[in-house]
Amino acid sequence: MAIAVQISRNGGPEVLELVQVEVGEPGPGEVRIVHKAVGLNFIDIYQRSGLYALPMPLNLGMEAAGVVEAVGEGVTHLRVGDRVAYASNPPGSYSEARVMPAMCVCRLPDGIDFETGAAMMLKGLTAQYLLKKCKPVEGLQPGDHVLFHAAAGGVGLIACQWAKALGLELIATAGSDEKCALALAHGAVHAINYREEDFARRVQEITVGRGVKVVYDGVGKDTWEGSLASLARFGLMVSFGNASGPVPAFAPAQLAAKSAYVTRQTLFTHIASREATQAMADDLFSVVQSGAVKIQIAQRYALAEVQQAHRDLEARRTTASSIFTL
Ligand SMILES: NC(=O)c1ccc[n+]([C@@H]2O[C@H](COP(=O)([O-])OP(=O)(O)OC[C@H]3O[C@@H](n4cnc5c(N)ncnc54)[C@H](OP(=O)(O)O)[C@@H]3O)[C@@H](O)[C@H]2O)c1
Repeated sequence: MAIAVQISRNGGPEVLELVQVEVGEPGPGEVRIVHKAVGLNFIDIYQRSGLYALPMPLNLGMEAAGVVEAVGEGVTHLRVGDRVAYASNPPGSYSEARVMPAMCVCRLPDGIDFETGAAMMLKGLTAQYLLKKCKPVEGLQPGDHVLFHAAAGGVGLIACQWAKALGLELIATAGSDEKCALALAHGAVHAINYREEDFARRVQEITVGRGVKVVYDGVGKDTWEGSLASLARFGLMVSFGNASGPVPAFAPAQLAAKSAYVTRQTLFTHIASREATQAMADDLFSVVQSGAVKIQIAQRYALAEVQQAHRDLEARRTTASSIFTL
């Protein structure tokens, strides 16, 4: 038996409950992991609220680090005792221990501790595919401007550092002057407080009317129009989240003036195979081990504080990564 966070209906943070669950034995292709630290992500809020609908009851959580305790038939890349971390479906990481598919579970390099592992897999693999795979038709070269919304957040603060390492000029947006300062301290070259300033107009000033090659937009509803207005000709709009609400329906004709491209991305198509997951994780591990990307954990909670953790993330009170410690 293990303690886990479960919901039996969609709703606000009050639907999050601590329950005892049966952990069981791993079947073919599965492992049992005893968690040491668990990651908190905005997708957990969508799954709790019902924006992303899933069957009930639902054990929440998509990211964690821990130790492999049992290995099912056919799993060849993991052994009992391995230190591991993952970002993976199905949800269920908000727990002391669980059985899950082994496919997305990666061994943690010796130099990376459990808390860092739990804080970086979902957010870091997302930053990896956004910056390395979501490129405009003309490609991205050092010195190119890109715009990244909510840049002081979990994915954002990793992206600021990684973009700098790639030589990109990342323009950050964030919801307070303190968050802007944090993004600048982590590699952004400009930061715009989009609660106070028209970010699209400021982007035009910074880029002398050219616009940015890519907008990485995890904010959604509130930033959509300004993001399109910030693009350069042939620019790429990467929508990857809805922290402010889903993007409204739009007419493709809106893209014509710039011959712009729009894509909606999710990590889970990028990590649909063991090989792809491991290649992306190796890339992430190497930037973390080199020190080019430092994983900041700004909030730590006990599992029993899960309702407060969700309230803080939803109310924009957090920066960087948040974890549950066990
Ligand atoms: N598609 C994928 O593969 C994928 C993977 C991981 C994450 N994501 C998405 O990426 C985004 C960031 O995820 P994260 O876990 O790292 O979260 P986060 O950035 O740490 O937190 C979300 C941030 O969004 C900003 N925000 C703007 N408007 C908001 C609103 N109305 N309500 C709440 N927050 C608002 C806030 O920053 P400011 O105060 O600075 O505005 C807030 O701190 C989320 O949309 C998430 O769903 C997508």
